[in-house]
Amino acid sequence: MLIKLHDLYFKPFISEKEIGTIVKNMVDAIAEDLGDEMPVFVGVLNGSFMFVSDFVKKYPKSCEVTFIKLASYEGVKSTEDIQRLIGLTQDLTDRTVVVLEDIIDSGNTLEEVHRIFRNENVKNLIIATLFYKPEAYAKDFKLHYVGKEIPNKFIVGYGLDYNGLGRDLPAIYQLKTTQYMINIVLFGPPGAGKGTQAEFLKEKYDLVHISTGDVFRCNIKNETALGMLAKSYMDKGALVPDQVTIDMLNKEVEKNTDANGFIFDGFPRTDAQAKALDNLMDSKDSQINAMVALEVDDEVLVQRLLKRGETSGRADDADEGIIRNRIKEYYNKTAILKDYYSEQNKYFGVDGVGSIEAITERLSNVLDKL
Ligand code: IMP
Ligand code: MG
Repeated sequence: MLIKLHDLYFKPFISEKEIGTIVKNMVDAIAEDLGDEMPVFVGVLNGSFMFVSDFVKKYPKSCEVTFIKLASYEGVKSTEDIQRLIGLTQDLTDRTVVVLEDIIDSGNTLEEVHRIFRNENVKNLIIATLFYKPEAYAKDFKLHYVGKEIPNKFIVGYGLDYNGLGRDLPAIYQLKTTQYMINIVLFGPPGAGKGTQAEFLKEKYDLVHISTGDVFRCNIKNETALGMLAKSYMDKGALVPDQVTIDMLNKEVEKNTDANGFIFDGFPRTDAQAKALDNLMDSKDSQINAMVALEVDDEVLVQRLLKRGETSGRADDADEGIIRNRIKEYYNKTAILKDYYSEQNKYFGVDGVGSIEAITERLSNVLDKL
């Protein structure tokens, strides 16, 4: 699940459970190395408060705990200018000091830590950090214990904040670098080759294909809460409320936070649904870029479907009257949506007659311009 803090989105990165394991491993290593030495753990506030708390709870022997408070970060960037807000408040002469840092990034804060301890005459100064960004580190100070090396991307949670928010989260989230998404609503009358073209678009543009029919069947089959809810309406012969469908689509979108975009297929069908879909994409700081409709002459469709009926055995592909009705119904229904998206200059009709390759080429031309 994505979370939003101020203006930015973050995605799950390190779970609470994994953090627990990392902390435990650090505790075990440090406890073993220190033996009977009574350490003073010095947490660097604010970021380290959760780490220090969990760490000392797990520490198997007697120890002392104190804090210093430094500040260096503004927004998502480290600054050179470290403020010393609270320094050492006790004499640590001849003590074994283990500095507990939540994260080491540029190393500027660590440099200040070393400055603080320069004249303290401690017996040992040991640096332990839960997270470490090797690509960002620009100092030479030794890091005695590192919980986990992470890529040079901004994270929040478990004490770490983005402008004051996120410290309370029990897991770590990573900044989602906003990438441009292409989200399209794909339309085509029966027999237009929508399935084939959706496959191709999915591959070429690395999009996630969300077929509303499949999503429904999957939710019902797996008896998800939303599936059961949808089924309760269907069993009564009632229409499933749009909100239920939207909630299902929302789940699909959130399952694919790294996608380049989505192909919506089978939804929306009404003006209200189109608006609901816009709202959903808006809530993700994204948008529907285009309604792409394959256009195929009725007579061509009828011939294609009749031909398909000869081999597919689908009853609704065998009868010309039924076929013509399905096509008519399609145009009746999509007309409203064509208007809806045309008003926003988002309607793109694509000639769906020709070879598969020729049609994919035409679709690519549309998507490349979005
Ligand atoms: P450094 O001085 O650049 O090494 O950064 C150390 C301090 O910056 C940490 O103690 C944190 O308070 C903060 N910091 C560094 N990286 C991050 C991050 O990814 N998220 C949140 N805070 C960070
Ligand atoms: Mg810190």
